[in-house]
Amino acid sequence: MRILLIGANGEIGKILNPALSKNHEIISAGRNSGDFKIDLSDSNSIEKLFEEVKNIDSCICVAGDCYTGDLHSLDEEKLNIGIKNKLLGQVNLVLIGQKYLNDNGSFILTSGKMGDKPVKNNISKAIVNGGINSFVLSASLELERGIRINAISPAKISDIPAEDLINAYAKGIEENINGEIIKVNY
Ligand SMILES: NC(=O)c1ccc[n+]([C@@H]2O[C@H](COP(=O)([O-])OP(=O)(O)OC[C@H]3O[C@@H](n4cnc5c(N)ncnc54)[C@H](OP(=O)(O)O)[C@@H]3O)[C@@H](O)[C@H]2O)c1
Repeated sequence: MRILLIGANGEIGKILNPALSKNHEIISAGRNSGDFKIDLSDSNSIEKLFEEVKNIDSCICVAGDCYTGDLHSLDEEKLNIGIKNKLLGQVNLVLIGQKYLNDNGSFILTSGKMGDKPVKNNISKAIVNGGINSFVLSASLELERGIRINAISPAKISDIPAEDLINAYAKGIEENINGEIIKVNY
């Protein structure tokens, strides 16, 4: 399959890129790195990417900044970092990308354990991850042309065997699942 991997140069992206390349063609993208540049917080940039990269079967997103800090340090500006980049960025990726993805294609978004098993200092991630999961559950009911959408919700990457992480993303691409939140190593 031809897979667009957004955030290919990040911690998760660097694990997925070589592993998924064994069976698929990977087109990498990132804010400052990769085959193509994209800023998820800018819808024009998302549209431009899909105009440039054609014939995509699967779009994986492992990108999106989010503020880490306690309740007392959190304010609207800090909250908006995650909302604009990780939450709205991934939502817009689907809203725009659904027009471009091949029939029977798939989106795999990334949320995270803090959405449903938060620990202190992660309120922003909890809100954003919960929003991504809810979006995936609801959007999966309405995407057309056989397009599927799933979310991977990993625990801290340093606590996860690379194999488990790779298998979760591979499942989202290769298996006929839709509207699932795949929890990795909770
Ligand atoms: N790491 C973990 O333990 C963990 C656990 C659970 C969930 N997650 C989630 O998984 C995702 C990836 O995590 P990570 O640790 O791999 O992140 P990372 O190491 O910070 O890498 C993020 C990647 O995303 C790209 N990026 C960041 N903001 C972007 C934007 N606005 N537009 C386009 N590309 C952007 C960066 O591109 P450039 O390098 O080109 O700037 C980078 O390649 C994040 O949403 C994170 O919250 C991570």
